[in-house]
Amino acid sequence: DRNIKIAPSILAADFANFGAEILAVQEQGADWIHVDVMDGHFVPSITFGPETCKAIRPHIKGVMDVHLMITPVDAYIEAFAKSGADIITAHVEAGPHAHRTVQAIRNAGAKAGIALNPATPVESIEYLLDMIDLICVMTVNPGFGGQKFIHSQIDKVKKLRAMVGDRPIHIEIDGGVTPETAPLVTAAGADVLVAGSAVFSGGSVQNPAPYGENIRAI
Ligand code: DX5
Ligand code: ZN
Repeated sequence: DRNIKIAPSILAADFANFGAEILAVQEQGADWIHVDVMDGHFVPSITFGPETCKAIRPHIKGVMDVHLMITPVDAYIEAFAKSGADIITAHVEAGPHAHRTVQAIRNAGAKAGIALNPATPVESIEYLLDMIDLICVMTVNPGFGGQKFIHSQIDKVKKLRAMVGDRPIHIEIDGGVTPETAPLVTAAGADVLVAGSAVFSGGSVQNPAPYGENIRAI
């Protein structure tokens, strides 16, 4: 579908070659670049912070989609906005003040996303709908790439699509997106698909053609 955006996650790229990996995947048809920030606290893994985001920014031609899996989150929003993020997504579970977090993201000049873990109900973001640009539905428990898609989240996507109505809010799917699961979530109303392992498998900076085949297969 031409209205579906594919956002490869650099979590599955070669960490020593982010610039070249990003250029390769863009040449092979990526729409957005998804950047997974993990703190070893909100999620078990640690990835990188705002300095890495700033360093990769010049290599990204389109949307830099930064997914913050960190807590506390508010103190770091300014730094990620300054790194050049177009969209900053924080988790609704990251603290008691998701409304304040979304305000802070918008005040910092970025578009605001809110992510929901698999156990979190749609009602948790009902009162944020008029101030967000993106909802990220986690279809795995965050922290690692290459996990299995959680099918119960398809129902959540349908509910969110109905809740969103005609507001201009993206519904993004993150985790376990493959050629098999992608049609299920786009049929349910998602329009942005994050994919890590499904995009980066089989290719490399030296041999990027598989990235394109993988993107077209999703
Ligand atoms: C998971 C991250 C995802 C991850 C997806 O915590 O938020 O963005 O990279 O990886 P795959 O597509 O391999 O499930
Ligand atoms: Zn992510």
